[in-house]
Amino acid sequence: MRRKIVAGNWKMNTTVAEGVALAKELVANMGEVPADVNMVVAPPFVHLTSVGEAIRDSKIALSAQNCADQPKGAFTGEVAAAMLAGIGCQYVILGHSERRQYYGETSATLVPKIKLALENGLQPIYCVGEMLSEREAGNHFNVVKAQIEEVLFGLTAEQMGHIVIAYEPVWAIGTGVTATNEQAQEIHAFIRKTIADKFGARIADDCTILYGGSCKPSNAKELFACPDIDGGLIGGASLKAADFIAIAQSY
Ligand code: 13P
Repeated sequence: MRRKIVAGNWKMNTTVAEGVALAKELVANMGEVPADVNMVVAPPFVHLTSVGEAIRDSKIALSAQNCADQPKGAFTGEVAAAMLAGIGCQYVILGHSERRQYYGETSATLVPKIKLALENGLQPIYCVGEMLSEREAGNHFNVVKAQIEEVLFGLTAEQMGHIVIAYEPVWAIGTGVTATNEQAQEIHAFIRKTIADKFGARIADDCTILYGGSCKPSNAKELFACPDIDGGLIGGASLKAADFIAIAQSY
C-alpha cells in the first residue's frame, strides 16, 4: 500500500551535537503526528550513528543522503550501502539535484547506487526534477521522464516496489518559491503514469511519491491534499523540530 512519508533532508547542516538535540526534540514532540505518517530523518553521514541512537525507540526512521556506486574497496571518501544498512539506515536519498548539479551525478552512477541500496535492504528515495530553464522551455515532462527511465526502468517490478520517488523542481529548492498545487499534482500524476506504463497499475498505485521544494507548515496541507502527493522531502524546514512536526501533522 502507498505510504505517507515526511522526510527531512538535513543536507550539510548541524554539528553532531546539534543533530542529536534536534532528533531528541522530534522524538519528544512527535506524539502530535498522525500514526499513519512515517517520519524519516536524513542527517549527514557522520551523524548517523548518534542520531540513530537518539531515535532508536521511536517511529522515526533513519536515512542517509547518498551512498557509493561500488560495493566496497579502494574508493577513498565514499560510503557503501552495506555500511549504511549495518548501522540501521532504512532509506537512502539518491539523485538529489544538488548531487547532480555540484558533484556530477548522472544516471550512469545512479543505476548501480540504486541496485546496491536495494541489495542491502535500503529503500532509495530517488529524486527527480527539472531546472527552471527546462520548465520555461516546456521540457519538464521530458526531463523527469528521462530521469525515471534511465535509472528505474532496469529494475524488476519487485525492486520497483521498494522505491520512493521525490519530485523536487530545482527552481523551488531553497528558494522560497513552491510549485503550485496544480503544478505539483500534474507532474506527480505524470510520474505515476510513467511508472504504470512500465511496471503496471498496481506498482504505480502503491508507489509513494513525495514533493520537495520550499515545503513548509504554511503550504504542506494543501500540497499533501493532492491525490498523487504522498508526503514531502523537506530541506530547510526540517532543521526546526516545530516546523518539521507541523508539516507532518498537517497531513
Ligand atoms: P528546501 O525544503 O530547503 O527547499 O529543500 C528541499 C530539498 O532539496 C529536500 O531534499
